[in-house]
Amino acid sequence: MKPLLRFMTCGSVDDGKSTLIGHMLYAAKLIYADQEKALELDSKVGSRGGKIDYSLLLDGLTAEREQGITIDVAYRYFTSDHRSFIAADTPGHEEYTRNMAVGASHSDLAVLLVDASKGVQSQTKRHLRICSLMGIKHIAAAVNKMDLLAYDKEQWCVIESELNHMAKEFELKTFQVIPVSAAEGDNILDWSKNMPWYSGPALLPYLEQVEIDTEEFEQPFYMPVQRVSRPNQHYRGYQGQIEGGMLRVGDTIYSLPSREKAIVKSLKSAGRETTELKNGMAASIELDRNVDVSRGCVLTTDKLLPVTSKLKVDIIWMDEKPLIPGRNYMMKIGTQQAPASVVKIYHQTDINSGELQPAVEGRKNEVITCDIALSSSVAADRFSLRKEVGSFILIDRLSGMTAGAGVVQEPKTSSADITWHETSVTHEHRAALKGQNPAVIWLTGLSGSGKSSVANRLEEMLHAAGRHSMLLDGDNVRHGLNRDLHFTEADRAENIRRIAETAKLMCDAGLITIVSFISPFREDREQARAIIGESRFREVYISTPLHICEQRDPKGLYVKARQGEIEAFTGVTSPYEAPESPDLTIDTSSMTIQDAAELIYTDIDQIQRSEGKANDK
Ligand code: ADX
Repeated sequence: MKPLLRFMTCGSVDDGKSTLIGHMLYAAKLIYADQEKALELDSKVGSRGGKIDYSLLLDGLTAEREQGITIDVAYRYFTSDHRSFIAADTPGHEEYTRNMAVGASHSDLAVLLVDASKGVQSQTKRHLRICSLMGIKHIAAAVNKMDLLAYDKEQWCVIESELNHMAKEFELKTFQVIPVSAAEGDNILDWSKNMPWYSGPALLPYLEQVEIDTEEFEQPFYMPVQRVSRPNQHYRGYQGQIEGGMLRVGDTIYSLPSREKAIVKSLKSAGRETTELKNGMAASIELDRNVDVSRGCVLTTDKLLPVTSKLKVDIIWMDEKPLIPGRNYMMKIGTQQAPASVVKIYHQTDINSGELQPAVEGRKNEVITCDIALSSSVAADRFSLRKEVGSFILIDRLSGMTAGAGVVQEPKTSSADITWHETSVTHEHRAALKGQNPAVIWLTGLSGSGKSSVANRLEEMLHAAGRHSMLLDGDNVRHGLNRDLHFTEADRAENIRRIAETAKLMCDAGLITIVSFISPFREDREQARAIIGESRFREVYISTPLHICEQRDPKGLYVKARQGEIEAFTGVTSPYEAPESPDLTIDTSSMTIQDAAELIYTDIDQIQRSEGKANDK
């Protein structure tokens, strides 16, 4: 029996995608008798006047949702006499690219639907490109609705040669064009007499015998851990689906990212004990000793499976909000999760033309080639070698929505290879010597809102009270450390990231650090909070209204901005996102600078009194 085939279907809404899969599921006898009856009944009022409408089968199934939100990919499992299949069906509405990218990242082969009555369209090429970007090397093009062309050989030949020509542009290992009628069942399960001029295989027999990269099945064992099962004191099983290779009792196994070693003591699949398991099977693995394994770890027999915190990747961006370098997203790769940000964009690829273009940020439906840095190390490999740890999604940390899907081009030498040196004098020692609990007081607000004045007065007060402090101010830092940055969204994000890292170092040095930057974007401030640490971070919103800031206009910048002399000026031509739940809100149009500084000082005083804050890293 051939190994498992994971395939996806792609095509637009009316190409007959659901009907096609429905047909194969039907043939695989997955439908119970009463369901079959219900289907026949439904069909009486359905679109095919009494005949079974196979698409009802799929449309009735609830879409699987990843992250409980945006992705609609329905996976169907079925078995024929010669092979087992997992079919990913992606509904074809406007979020199509998103769903297709996710479906493709779990598939070895794509069934590309082409509507014979419409011929090859530009979207056919677009689908091919997405498949190819997501690493699919095997395509079966099903030219559907041949019945509508009265099974005409001439028209078929035109479509076939156009498709063959198009496929040459992509690096495919197999490409087969098959004329079908999903509705009538021609060339789906077996060869159809309606098209005697076609001598190739029907779709299902083709999928049953197509050779997918054999290396994948000969590769060493690996399995992302989905859960740890502890039914009693004596048994601890690491569970998940085997994504590559074979595992036997007695094999030496590594747990990533820690690379701890153990020997396989017992193996179970579907509740039954066994001595070996292979790719595609669900497994429960017991080890001979206690190692640190939890959900998110990867078990493997391959000592060399990379563990890294830097990846070169291709991402299909799906969010309305652009992908901004420096912004923080949550990456889900295999069963692992880690905060991630783009550190370098190489280029973007136009999905329609395939042209490479320079890019500073990523927009919806663009494919971005970039480097990603993760805040912790993960087991990750080239997508072409190991799909499950080679593909990922990026989640917007504020909305929880999937913002992008991607594949790993290569794991890079990363900070995983640079060891973190534990110093003997710790941040606690430094803080203790200064007799204070360090914190970061983050002032955010419009230009002219009074941030710098409040910050300055506050530092005077701290200094007078014998506190060790430091003040980081937007205008000043932009003269030195950040002089290469401008006021684009990406540059502002990077500005804030660097300041947050600097403030963290200051905090580690034991200082009470006052930070005064417009920091207009909520996400960037949240990232700063994450870098510095929740308990050492105080967000102070200087909420002075825009019209007051503009009246004050201490540097004459609002006038210039209104005259169009300054681009993207906050409050005028660039947005300011007010904090949703700041620790303090101060309006300097209704409060003196002294009172404002005192209010913050009192808050800092409380931090000084609370025990243990200095120990929170
Ligand atoms: S931030 O948006 O990246 O946080 P930051 O606080 O570093 O800004 O710098 C803001 C200061 O730069 C303002 O106080 C103002 O003096 C100056 N500036 C110059 N151009 C702009 C601009 N387009 N938008 C906002 N501030 C600007």
